[in-house]
Amino acid sequence: MRVLITGITGFAGSHLADLCLSKKDVELYGIIRWRSRTENIEHIRDRLNLLECDLRDASSTRDVIEEVRPEYIFHLAAQSFVPTSWNAPSESLTTNIIGQLNIFEAVKKLDVDCRIQIACSSEEYGMVHPDEVPIKESSPLRPLSPYGVSKVGQDMLGYQYFMSYGMKIVRTRGFNHTGPRRGPVFVCSDFAKQIVDIEQGRKDPVMEVGNLDARRDFTDVRDMVRAYWLSLEKGKPGKVYNICTGKSYSIKEILDQLIELSGVKVEVRTDRGRLRPSDVPLLEGDNSEFTADTGWKPEIPIEKTLADLLEFWRTCASHG
Ligand code: GDD
Repeated sequence: MRVLITGITGFAGSHLADLCLSKKDVELYGIIRWRSRTENIEHIRDRLNLLECDLRDASSTRDVIEEVRPEYIFHLAAQSFVPTSWNAPSESLTTNIIGQLNIFEAVKKLDVDCRIQIACSSEEYGMVHPDEVPIKESSPLRPLSPYGVSKVGQDMLGYQYFMSYGMKIVRTRGFNHTGPRRGPVFVCSDFAKQIVDIEQGRKDPVMEVGNLDARRDFTDVRDMVRAYWLSLEKGKPGKVYNICTGKSYSIKEILDQLIELSGVKVEVRTDRGRLRPSDVPLLEGDNSEFTADTGWKPEIPIEKTLADLLEFWRTCASHG
């Protein structure tokens, strides 16, 4: 089976590539941009077919879809960091919405018979009140960042292309996910890296943090990519699914767990630059729709995910 992953060099994309390669009969293709960093896929590079493409360019996207004629497309490429979307809102909307539109149009015009998973996000729910959890797929969408709006755009476009043309699109609303290879700007990875820098004497024992009151529902990335695969294998085209654990932690609780796992003594200091114009206060999802259709269950507990993340940064440091 020919499988195409957009965003294959990224965090989730590289873990999904590992999963795909563990399956029989998968011929794996990935899209990379000129000068993409490739450290997340170096270990499997000789087993991948990498194609250069900028999804914001319709003809470049069309060429790739024509060459691969994939049976499964996992669309993970995106501007995925919420704070960047305030600094570069137009770029975030273009990359996320128009990039996806170019894939849909290419698949439609070339009449490629494939299933497409699109990585939507719990950020779409945005302003969630305490009496509104656990969040169901039918909960209102009240995005609080340009990134959240871009994901609502992707989500609605997926719905519309399914309704208008019968394209086999499955929308996954992924809640937060973390684990080894997570980029250092995202909260768990940022804190884990600071802790390892303190452990190894590269940083004073001061943790710089943003809003610790927000609550998030964290899934291990390896569970998340298993869900992505199942969304195409067993999920129903046209549907939208929450992918989450159903349990939330405050960011303060995550910080405390990481500090406890390491054993370092630190002072915690708020860095005002890390506060957002509006931060999503609470994300805690209901995954029953997805579990019922696919049998998926998260398997890796948060303690292991955080321990693996600390170990990832320790190993990176020892490799220089
Ligand atoms: N990044 C960061 N750095 N976040 C901090 C920090 C810090 O130092 N301190 C507190 N936070 C808080 C943020 O304000 C936010 O409430 C929470 O930690 C999580 O921040 P991120 O890890 O940056 O993730 P996110 O929730 O904004 O978005 C992630 O999850 C979405 C799914 O809900 C990203 O992975 C998105 O791409 C994804 O769609």
